[in-house]
Amino acid sequence: MSQGQPSGARLRISEYKQIAERMREIQEQQRRVIRNMMRIKYKILVLSSKGGVGKSFITASLGAALAVKGRKVGVFDADFGGPSIHKMYGAPTGQGLRARMDGSIEPAVVDPGVKFVSVGLLLPRDEVPLLWRGAIKTSAIRELLAFVEWGELDYLLIDMPPGTGDEQLTMAQIIPRLSGIILVTIPSEVSRAVVKKAAAFSRKLGIPVVGVIENMSYFRCKDGSIHYIFGKGGTEELAREFEIEFLGSIPIDPRIRESNDRGAIFFIEHPETEASKIFMEITEKVIDIVENSKAKIPRINI
Ligand SMILES: Nc1ncnc2c1ncn2[C@@H]1O[C@H](COP(=O)(O)OP(=O)(O)O)[C@@H](O)[C@H]1O
Ligand SMILES: [Mg+2]
Repeated sequence: MSQGQPSGARLRISEYKQIAERMREIQEQQRRVIRNMMRIKYKILVLSSKGGVGKSFITASLGAALAVKGRKVGVFDADFGGPSIHKMYGAPTGQGLRARMDGSIEPAVVDPGVKFVSVGLLLPRDEVPLLWRGAIKTSAIRELLAFVEWGELDYLLIDMPPGTGDEQLTMAQIIPRLSGIILVTIPSEVSRAVVKKAAAFSRKLGIPVVGVIENMSYFRCKDGSIHYIFGKGGTEELAREFEIEFLGSIPIDPRIRESNDRGAIFFIEHPETEASKIFMEITEKVIDIVENSKAKIPRINI
């Protein structure tokens, strides 16, 4: 368009063609996304209201725990602002992803057999920030879900960017027939607002909530005494009030951070710990709720 044209001016034919071409491309990708996602039984979003609450740790560990329990699992890191699933699975930033001759992309694989894709694998270095606008993130998600060849899976866990706003809603809408949402919180942010926002998110998308996990709930000293570092939770009561399943409280254990930093799975390295035992109980609950269709859309006025 020439300068000074009023808004609403006519588009040139070449511009129409470009837009039409782009729309065709998006439709074709969306068809591929649907085709790929049809081969996955349960697609679960992992959400939190802010960063640093352990969303990626829980997504990565749940992926591994489900695989240990015999499920075919994929983990998709959609947190483009701070991708970390690859690091938790011991793959360096910039490792890359393998493309096949037909243009499809092979997911990376980690023991015990979890397939994963993270934009972190494609970044040259950790320090390179991805300051993408919302629309670009949405196209990147669509493109990855269209071209990554997950194959037949029982579960695809999606590590979402922190928050429950419009950006997350738009991203979630690309994925057809999501099975459920898992919400991760820490005690200090246990407020009605956090749970209510997650419930509203679930209502708007029409996707049921599998449950809420409270992470970093307490620290147990060697003498057995319990310390509520971030304050004593009230997540369980709130969850009950909003009719959301409470999945469990994971304690703070410095070995969790150590394992994550080394790219090792904590519950495999330290199966005897309280945190690992609780984590396996949470996994059992998730399996029961998801596979028996017990997840519900919270009853809440929004
Ligand atoms: N229960 C826990 N005890 C100790 N460290 C934890 C625990 N949960 C997570 N962490 C650590 O806290 C940091 C933030 O976790 P992360 O999963 O990256 O959060 P998010 O994805 O929500 O931003 C990481 O260093 C992780 O290893
Ligand atoms: Mg994260």
